[in-house]
Amino acid sequence: MGLFLYLSVFRMFLWASALNSEGHGEPGAYRREHRAQGGMQIKPLIYDEQLLWVSNGAGEVNTYRIPLLTFTSRGSLLAFTEARKDSSGDIGAKFIAMKRSIDRGATWSPTSFIVDDGILVDGLNLGSVVVDEQTKSVILIYSLCFHLYHCSPSSTMLVESLDDGLTWSNPRNLSVQLGVKSFAPGPGFGIQKRLSPAAGRLVVCGHGTIEGDGVFCILSDDHGRNWRYGGSLKSIPYNQPKQSQDFNPDECQELKFDHTLVDPVVAAGALQKEDVLFFTNPANSQKRVNMTLRWSFTNGTTWENEAVQIWAGPSAYSSMTSLVGNAVEDKKYIYVIYEKGHLESTESISVAKIHLYGGR
Ligand SMILES: *[C@@H]1O[C@H](CO)[C@@H](O)[C@H](O)[C@H]1NC(C)=O
Ligand SMILES: *[C@@H]1O[C@H](CO)[C@@H](O)[C@H](O)[C@H]1NC(C)=O
Ligand SMILES: *[C@@H]1O[C@H](CO)[C@@H](O)[C@H](O)[C@H]1NC(C)=O
Repeated sequence: MGLFLYLSVFRMFLWASALNSEGHGEPGAYRREHRAQGGMQIKPLIYDEQLLWVSNGAGEVNTYRIPLLTFTSRGSLLAFTEARKDSSGDIGAKFIAMKRSIDRGATWSPTSFIVDDGILVDGLNLGSVVVDEQTKSVILIYSLCFHLYHCSPSSTMLVESLDDGLTWSNPRNLSVQLGVKSFAPGPGFGIQKRLSPAAGRLVVCGHGTIEGDGVFCILSDDHGRNWRYGGSLKSIPYNQPKQSQDFNPDECQELKFDHTLVDPVVAAGALQKEDVLFFTNPANSQKRVNMTLRWSFTNGTTWENEAVQIWAGPSAYSSMTSLVGNAVEDKKYIYVIYEKGHLESTESISVAKIHLYGGR
């Protein structure tokens, strides 16, 4: 239960950051504008769905888990996942696998393995992807030795692509700047602030260990060269009401538990697109099944009663993105990547392209 609250609040935290970066007009205009947008009501429809990775033991990979998805500044989509070499477990050696789509998700490249941690006992864990729209770079942050299992210390690592995901830098060790506190970025995406204060700042949030306590953000004000800790939420995940000294307001806004978003202890997805906040998770209090898309016209204060079931069966972590260009096509769709299976949610990684206006 503690973790359930932990993850739910963690998501609210990310939204708060994301909303902070967007900025909108006054509330009345907000609602009217949404309803009026081309006379179109939100009516999500699964328009296309493809399995990007299947955990069938082919090659050197046992299981694909922890999918991330991002837009790029050049209008491509990049999907990432842990390719776990020996088992489905969180520890162990892994690759980071990537696929790229340059046609709005219609087709995807073959897999590139962009990071290989070798034979580490407590290998890499994804992760958070963040796009710097000013430099057009894509930054992926992950951890090494997060669980301190037969290794020490834990390291926070970064790889970067300056050519739309085609090639990637060597891993850079951010713990040299940040210190070696265990930090699990994401899973999901970071943001770049568009409005002042600190427009252009990169904000990447994640969590520590139970012993380490809390949810943290790391910040960069120079396009990913230097990083430091930003806000943290100390009382989480101990299932306690927040206390006045717990909260460091840097990069955070008001936080609330949201009991509408029923959750079996899992990482959920959240995305603000225009005036609508979208949320995905396996909407079941006991089991990782029932991948569901919800949406809110009130910045997550209330949720619409309708929800769209993306997959009834086993399903777990999810992440969302959408293309940010001015093309009409890009305004119509969001993309959800999630763990999906028939017997176990670890069977495959799937990406669903969702038409927001019922296919019209
Ligand atoms: C959502 O948040 C934005 C940014 O803080 C604000 O301008 C807007 O009025 C909010 N909308 C609603 C419906 O509360
Ligand atoms: C990263 O840097 C920290 C701090 O200097 C160091 O302790 C750690 O061993 C480094 N990790 C890797 C993988 O090189
Ligand atoms: C699936 O999610 C929907 C929406 O929250 C809910 O009404 C339904 O009871 C859920 N079904 C299962 C089997 O969890």
